[in-house]
Amino acid sequence: MMSGDRCTVSIDTLLARGVWRYWDDKLAGSILPPVYVSAIYSHPVGDKTLRPRAGDLKYSRENNPTVMELEEVMACVENGDWSLAFSSGMGALSTAIIAYSRPGTRITVSRLVYGSTRGLLEGLSRRMDIRVEVRGPPWEDLLESAEASDIVIVETMGNPTLRIPPLRELYTRCRKHGCRVLVDNTFATPILYKPLDDGAWLSAESTTKYIAGHNDVVGGLLAGKGEDLYNKLWDWRRVLGATMHPFEAYLTIRGMKTLHLRIERSSKTAMQVAAWLEDDKRVSRVYYPGLESHPDHREAKSLFNGVYGGVVSFELVGGEKAAMKFLSSLKIISPAPSLGGVESLASYPYTASHRNLPEEERLDLGITPGLIRLSVGMEDPDDLIEDIDKALEAATPTL
Ligand SMILES: Cc1ncc(COP(=O)(O)O)c(C=O)c1O
Repeated sequence: MMSGDRCTVSIDTLLARGVWRYWDDKLAGSILPPVYVSAIYSHPVGDKTLRPRAGDLKYSRENNPTVMELEEVMACVENGDWSLAFSSGMGALSTAIIAYSRPGTRITVSRLVYGSTRGLLEGLSRRMDIRVEVRGPPWEDLLESAEASDIVIVETMGNPTLRIPPLRELYTRCRKHGCRVLVDNTFATPILYKPLDDGAWLSAESTTKYIAGHNDVVGGLLAGKGEDLYNKLWDWRRVLGATMHPFEAYLTIRGMKTLHLRIERSSKTAMQVAAWLEDDKRVSRVYYPGLESHPDHREAKSLFNGVYGGVVSFELVGGEKAAMKFLSSLKIISPAPSLGGVESLASYPYTASHRNLPEEERLDLGITPGLIRLSVGMEDPDDLIEDIDKALEAATPTL
């Protein structure tokens, strides 16, 4: 459960090799961690400790050896004491939120968090006695509200305009005022930024995205420090039934082996695509934290380790009609709502991910009818730019 002496090698080596040791596998000497499919594990006859305990192997909803391999590697990668794997990113977030909500709990959440996270909090606040404030950007609004909160929930890069909250200022204020900061690090991954290093309470990931990385798994993760926090979240995961399945854990372990390489490559291509788009008259605005024109470029430069991730958003001249034509004209990039996989995807936040926000708020956040979000995958950068170029030509023929 607790990492420690196993976190002695570099992240690249950890991701590539994991913590599974073939010499511990007396039966077969398997180089890779086996997928343990057994739902139950034998207990010594006469064992009276029937109470579920973190780390015990008894029942797969509580613990599973394949899932535990993933958790040990990710604990090291996140620089935490531990990590816990969940059946989805939402499973991870809802477990943390439910475990730490009690009557009177005050939660501040950024306006740019994933729609279902905001929906979950707003839904809970209508049913339970918890107070949810949705604040920022502007970031000063978020910081002010944070000071009067118990929990603050932000994303390292907010979807879809990739706004980056002043995280270090937020941790400093929360240290002073006693709030806990949960950072959804899905868009950045621990390759760009490790929230726990700076003072976050929890780092959350939808492993569906970059960590598994192949658009074939749904999963989530929480990483943190300290045994009490681990035990509480482990127990809530157990009773909510939100544990990751061993097959999903195995696919995540396999995808994760190349996480560092994929992030490097997609960030490099994304920078190239963003710079190309910025020079194009058919595009009125480009959002990429690596560009100097991005409102949080300075924050990105100080937080991230030299690369800026694989998501680029841009606004087409020609609004909704042009955006629809653009999406239907793409030949390589698939119109689909996720991100972080090998295949490049384009999505339409205005009526998809952000459809539940009032029109006025969408526009205020830059989520306009012409906005496209692009998740850059592993394809050749020139092929991607050509695909975008041709779709832009079809979408805005008179420009
Ligand atoms: C930033 C962010 N957090 C959480 C989630 C939820 O993850 P999942 O779909 O794995 O439940 C998503 C999904 O798109 C996301 O983009």
